[in-house]
Amino acid sequence: MNNTSKKPLLQVENLSISFSQYFKGTQKRVIRPIVDLHVEIGEGEIVAVVGASGSGKSLLAHAVLGILPGNAMWEGRMLYRGEILTEERKAQLRGGEISFIPQSVNYLDPLMQVGKQVQIGLEKSVAQGIQKELFQQYGLKESDGKLYPHELSGGMLRRVLFATSVREGGRLVIADEPTPGIHPEILSEILKQLAQFSKKGAGVMLITHDIMSALEIADRVAVIKDGRTVEIAEAAAFEGKGERLKDEYTQRLWRALPQNDFDLEFQRKDVGMQCL
Ligand SMILES: Nc1ncnc2c1ncn2[C@@H]1O[C@H](COP(=O)(O)OP(=O)(O)OP(=O)(O)O)[C@@H](O)[C@H]1O
Ligand SMILES: [Mg+2]
Repeated sequence: MNNTSKKPLLQVENLSISFSQYFKGTQKRVIRPIVDLHVEIGEGEIVAVVGASGSGKSLLAHAVLGILPGNAMWEGRMLYRGEILTEERKAQLRGGEISFIPQSVNYLDPLMQVGKQVQIGLEKSVAQGIQKELFQQYGLKESDGKLYPHELSGGMLRRVLFATSVREGGRLVIADEPTPGIHPEILSEILKQLAQFSKKGAGVMLITHDIMSALEIADRVAVIKDGRTVEIAEAAAFEGKGERLKDEYTQRLWRALPQNDFDLEFQRKDVGMQCL
């Protein structure tokens, strides 16, 4: 965390998250999938968060946004613009200064036309115009606006989700896997859009399995394994054989990419094919 050049926007320190669960009917147990996460995002900075499926990336996002499930408890410290992020503050910031692009398309309302959903939260007089612009930007046809979520493909839904979530004037954008199943052209549009936000001074947390795409725009990369941050590396350190990466896990993650050594054994055992 040697982020001295940029003013800190979001700081997460020693975050742990546990869930209380009932099993066998009445017995209660506590599980703790998140043990020690930390991440810091400066103004105008893009930090990619990478790690295997189940490592805790979405929970990190949900904790910052204050949308963890009711049976979750968290400990640690979260600061936004230098002030403690209380649950009340999170609720105020959510959807305004802090935008969220969720991982699941289930966040869309199945009973509302997608065009209308993009207009939510926009001023009435300009809502339709902005929706049209956003649809054009993300390669959606005007007529798609009249469709319901179940009538759209997975890739189209992700683009709609992006259009509903991201608003001008946000200071922090949290994007949870915004790109799977997306056409390369739209992928590059989404990355460009995130880079644009950072140029305007917003901080971006980009959660992704796609390290190569993330490296196109990220300043730093936080690597998460089993609910712990193992390393926060400069994006530039992901080069060559990864000699400049400090943690062994990060080095292996990097070398497992097809364009590097393609360490198949590591992919199977430690990361799972789907995350690369
Ligand atoms: N509501 C919950 N109750 C209990 N455990 C949970 C709950 N939500 C998540 N977990 C556990 O926490 C861990 C981290 O989950 P999380 O969804 O953050 O993973 P992720 O890194 O986002 O994975 P993916 O890349 O597949 O989206 C997982 O082991 C998961 O089983
Ligand atoms: Mg996730």
